[in-house]
Parts: sequence; C-alpha cells; structure tokens
Amino acid sequence: MNDTIELNIEEKEHVMIDKTPSVKTHQPDRAQPSEETFSACIQVKDYHFYYGDNRVLFDVNFEMPERQVTAIIGPSGCGKSTLLRNINRMNELIDGVHHQGDILIKGQSVYDPTLEVTEIRKRIGMVFQKSNPFPKSIYENIIYSLRMAGEKRKSVLDEAVETSLKAAALWEEVKDRLEESALSLSGGQMQRLCIARAIANQPEILLMDEPCSALDPIATAKIEELIYELKKDFTIVIVTHNMQQAARISDWTAFFYLGKLIEFNNTKKIFVNPDQKQTEDYVTGRFG
Ligand SMILES: Nc1ncnc2c1ncn2[C@@H]1O[C@H](COP(=O)(O)OP(=O)(O)OP(=O)(O)O)[C@@H](O)[C@H]1O
Ligand SMILES: [Mg+2]
Repeated sequence: MNDTIELNIEEKEHVMIDKTPSVKTHQPDRAQPSEETFSACIQVKDYHFYYGDNRVLFDVNFEMPERQVTAIIGPSGCGKSTLLRNINRMNELIDGVHHQGDILIKGQSVYDPTLEVTEIRKRIGMVFQKSNPFPKSIYENIIYSLRMAGEKRKSVLDEAVETSLKAAALWEEVKDRLEESALSLSGGQMQRLCIARAIANQPEILLMDEPCSALDPIATAKIEELIYELKKDFTIVIVTHNMQQAARISDWTAFFYLGKLIEFNNTKKIFVNPDQKQTEDYVTGRFG
C-alpha cells in the first residue's frame, strides 16, 4: 500500500506526503497557529469543561475562521464531540456539567445571558454521526423548524425545501418523492437530508460530528463535495477520525489529545510538517 496521504485543500492542489516522520529540532510548547491570519468566527478562550467532577477539556484556546472548514481530530475520548456540542450549548442538556472560560461567536459569548439558547441553536446547526431524520416526509423534515417558527405560507415553505435540498445536493434524487417518508431514503441520502434540514434554518455555522462514518465511499465523497460547496456560505467545523478526509476537506485542523489542544494549524502544515511531535505521530498513525 502506498504510505501517503493525499491532500486536496482549497486550491485543489495535490500534495503527496511522505508519512515517514522528519526530524524536528524545534517544538513550541503551545498550540499556536502559524503566522497566517483570518477573520475568526468561533473563538474558544481558556475553556475547561466538566461532566460532574470529571474534567474533559483543559484550557482550550483557539479560533476557527469564518467560511472555512476546521477539522477536529484526535483519539477516541479526547473531547472532540464535547467541544463541538458546547459551541451550540447542546451539552447543557446533560445534568451536572459546567465550564470555565468562554466560547464566542463573532465576538459574542454563547453564554451571554441575553441570548436565547434557541437562537444560538438556530445560528449554529448540527449534523450528527448517525443521521436522525424525523419519522415524517422528506418535505416535513426540511420545513420542521420553519413550521415551529409559525411559517405557514406554502410558497415560502416550498422555496425553502427546494433551496435546502439543492444546497445539500439531494434535490435531483428526491424532487419527485417529497411526500415519501424520510426513513425510506438510503443512509447517505438521510445524512444529506439532515444537512438540508440544518441549512433550512439558515445557520451561520454548521457543526458536523463524524458525518460520514456510517457511509460508503461514494456517499462520503458526495458529502465531502457538499462541504466544499457549503463553506462558501457557512463556517464549518467537522469532527472526523478519517485523516484523509480531514486532509481533503479542511482548511484548518485542531488536534486534541486527552482533553488538551495539542496543535491548531493550517491543515497542510498539520499533515506535512506539524509543529508538535504528538501531532505527527497521530496523523502518521503511530498512535491513537
Ligand atoms: N454525557 C456524558 N457524561 C459523562 N461523561 C461524558 C459524557 N459524554 C462524554 N463524556 C466523557 O467525556 C470524555 C470526552 O468524550 P467525547 O465524547 O467528547 O470524546 P470524543 O473525542 O468525541 O470521542 P469519540 O472519537 O469516541 O467520539 C470521555 O472521557 C467521555 O467518557
Ligand atoms: Mg465523538
């Protein structure tokens, strides 16, 4: 087998990386990104998170850029989903959790008491590992939030369905069966339906927790193409265990280990020449 990872980042450049680790002489001790600058959409500041007495995130600091894709990688249990679920405060549904530090969206704390949690979740959509369509028609799945918000005009609902399904690259496959149950779709189609449902809310940010882990390579490729298109309009944060996927679709990558952010950097740098030895060991499959 070819011991390489193929990068396919924004410029669609193809860089074949030798996975043999190179010798490093300089190891900075903090997870600082390279000199590149960007407009931050999500800022995580001095962030600690606890389930009861169990601290699972330790002093996390980094910023995720607007309208780009940030991948979160790291071994199982290192806190990837926990961080993701705190960006839209989903974890608050769990008893006994608490945090220190802050998460800001375009400068505003998600913990700002004047902000409604429902408003945060509207601004920040989420797609889970296991697609979770409602046991309703394809059409009703897409317009669920609009209906909840009181929207009744058929023209508006029809338009939202078509626009969201087109954005999720599913329209052509389902346009003649919108009244059929969403549960009749294939796994890959259901996942795209869930992405369409999230888009229908017109969020600013899309959080994706291993959205392709249950999908075959063709469905995965479709979702990856979709993510590439969606980042024109949305800031995307994706958790993935698939190193090739992180390399292909993300612009920035955050590597976590045991609840700590080890390195946040440009994806190309993470996979070609990371600052931290631990990052290199992980992306080259030496541990994790
Ligand atoms: N609801 C919960 N209650 C208590 N502890 C939890 C809960 N969810 C996660 N944890 C703990 O928090 C830590 C981080 O879990 P998390 O699910 O964020 O990891 P992860 O990096 O997403 O792992 P994976 O790659 O397996 O999905 C783990 O030790 C886990 O046991
Ligand atoms: Mg997880």
